[in-house]
Amino acid sequence: MRRILVTSALPYANGHIHLGHLVEYIQTDIWVRFQKLRGHRCLYICADDTHGTAIMIRAQQEEIREEELIAQMQEAHLRDFAGFDVEFDNYGSTHSPENRTLCNEIWTAIRKAGLVEQKKVTQLYDLTAGTFLADRFVKGTCPKCKAPNQYGDNCDKCGAHYDPSDLIDPVSTLSGGTPEIRSADHLFINVEMLHGFLEEWTQRTGALQPEVANYLAGHFLQEPLHDWDVSRPAPYFGFEIPDSPGNYWYVWFDAPIGYIASSWVWCKKHGEKLDDWWRSQATEIHHFIGKDITYFHTLFWPAMLKTAGFRLPEKVHIHGFLTVNGEKMSKTKGTFIQASTYLEHLDPVYLRYFYASKLTPRVDDLDLNFDEFVAKVNSDMVGNVVNLASRTAKFGHETGLADGYPDDGGLFAQAAAEGREIAAAYEDGDFARAIRTILAMSDRANQYVEAQAPWNLQKDPAQHDELRRVCTVGLNLFRQIAVYLAPVLPRLARQTGQLLDDPITRWDQSQQPLLGRPVGKFEHMMQRITRKQIDAVISASTDHAGNNTHPSDAPAADASASDSDAPLKADPLSPEIGIEDFSRVDLRVVRVIAAEDVPGAQKLLKLTVSLGGDDRRTVFAGIKEAYPPQDLVGRLVVCAANLAPRKMKFGTSSGMIVASGPGGKDIFLLSPDPGAQPGQRVH
Ligand code: MSP
Ligand code: ZN
Repeated sequence: MRRILVTSALPYANGHIHLGHLVEYIQTDIWVRFQKLRGHRCLYICADDTHGTAIMIRAQQEEIREEELIAQMQEAHLRDFAGFDVEFDNYGSTHSPENRTLCNEIWTAIRKAGLVEQKKVTQLYDLTAGTFLADRFVKGTCPKCKAPNQYGDNCDKCGAHYDPSDLIDPVSTLSGGTPEIRSADHLFINVEMLHGFLEEWTQRTGALQPEVANYLAGHFLQEPLHDWDVSRPAPYFGFEIPDSPGNYWYVWFDAPIGYIASSWVWCKKHGEKLDDWWRSQATEIHHFIGKDITYFHTLFWPAMLKTAGFRLPEKVHIHGFLTVNGEKMSKTKGTFIQASTYLEHLDPVYLRYFYASKLTPRVDDLDLNFDEFVAKVNSDMVGNVVNLASRTAKFGHETGLADGYPDDGGLFAQAAAEGREIAAAYEDGDFARAIRTILAMSDRANQYVEAQAPWNLQKDPAQHDELRRVCTVGLNLFRQIAVYLAPVLPRLARQTGQLLDDPITRWDQSQQPLLGRPVGKFEHMMQRITRKQIDAVISASTDHAGNNTHPSDAPAADASASDSDAPLKADPLSPEIGIEDFSRVDLRVVRVIAAEDVPGAQKLLKLTVSLGGDDRRTVFAGIKEAYPPQDLVGRLVVCAANLAPRKMKFGTSSGMIVASGPGGKDIFLLSPDPGAQPGQRVH
């Protein structure tokens, strides 16, 4: 049994998960599920990457604290991952005490090794925003070709690279003001001192795909490595460097350490030792990342691990980028698709299957072509694999499985033997090859069923035993396939386990047929995709005004929360609804037991209401201009009590007080007649 610790890159907490990210998380999840199915001890560790300028600025714009922003984002990320059956053993945060401790420990080791140097850095500083500007927050005229409106680090027009302080007429995209040049001391890691080690590790340990090793050799390792700037002066959302007050670790210093920190949280929960996972020769560490973050993971990260005495990665698995219909994802074309949007219209198993069928051990980009997507899922999954089950399970339910395995012309034995090849393909990250082998298997099984025509046998009672034999073969061939596909399609494996009353938990279940047992009732396993569903996703993702889908400008918080200060408007009648819609709203009589002003909010009061007994909750109501808080205490009002809690700028609101009127001073709370009791339902 191997001990394997697997990570995916930590998604930034300033944007939502989209289909591009999912290439990585689905790929990793499949690999982890494969290892677990093989009986290895395997942990899948991830976390949100929470620090840095982008988060800080976003929180400022939304007038919430960074902690609140990252908590909301983590919730959204976890919901999206769960929706796609991506299952972590631990999902942490880089903004955790464990991470701070580990950053300190690793930093101390790097200092001790004499790798830290201090140097002056000039950067543009935005006086209005009170912050140094990262390159992408500055625009100006290219110093070389004079093209206007170029970003701080390079020019779109002529391709020149330059320092942001060389831009002509620089403008801060944060405040619109002219930034000034300031210099500050930064701390650098002298990575060049580890050149020999990195040469060896990247070129001769097999930890990297050959094209990655070659790229590093050709682009970085031929020359001395540049010092790496790992500190940022305040203000910065991150961890302050203990031995350099006023300076913070740059987000890319603490982010990968988050892999260890999240593992540590898991260890604490499970009574295990962190060192057994991160400082032991007995554990393999596997990172899955996209090609854009290659050098952080193949140069800086191994340098940090080596210096601080941690285990080096066994392998860094690097994948390419997602294109949609052959192009970069685009908001205007509706191909920048968020995970949550997809889930509203389509079954997640389609995407898991499609990505699996396209993933290879190479760094190539992966194209999601919608026509191919529809065709592949419908023909390979619905028409081939699931069809095998649906045309045998119905009859199998009547006959049960035979006591001895019938002669199937060697089909089961062949598929059992091919398990090795499929396992090797999964292990190598060649999921496309694994899928090809499995589909060929399924083709053969379907031909067998076709030739035996159980639908004819069923009509003749004299053929009952023959029917049972055919179903025994068909269902066992299907079950083999379900085992082999279990890493990709865990739900299908679960359903198959239920159908045959034998949960799929181990790879070697593919080696022995199931015999002499009843067959459950067949429940449909997968529906055909229609082009209409795809069109709905595209249309929901198309950038109409107000529909922001780009991660860097999508609203992180529930957008309605920031509107909650807006006055109530007198509305025209809403569209008709049925009684069942109405009764879904749980209206309750509640008593106001405390009411207070919310400093900084124009229209909100914070109410504590009682639903009777100990059931109390906090509700923010936009009634400040109409009611002095002290007048409300003791009153009975009506509250929509089953609204999902909403995070607002000033706290979480768990309900909504019912009132009429256009807003401002003209708001009228609805109150029950005397005799009503707190907690009573309003019908
Ligand atoms: N926060 C960093 C990673 C820190 S790891 C210590 C980051 N975050 S990210 O949210 O931008 O990306 C997370 C992962 O998703 C990265 O591995 C990235 O390569 C991958 N992808 C993001 N967009 C992608 C596509 N369009 N296509 C494929 N993978 C993509 O980078
Ligand atoms: Zn230029």
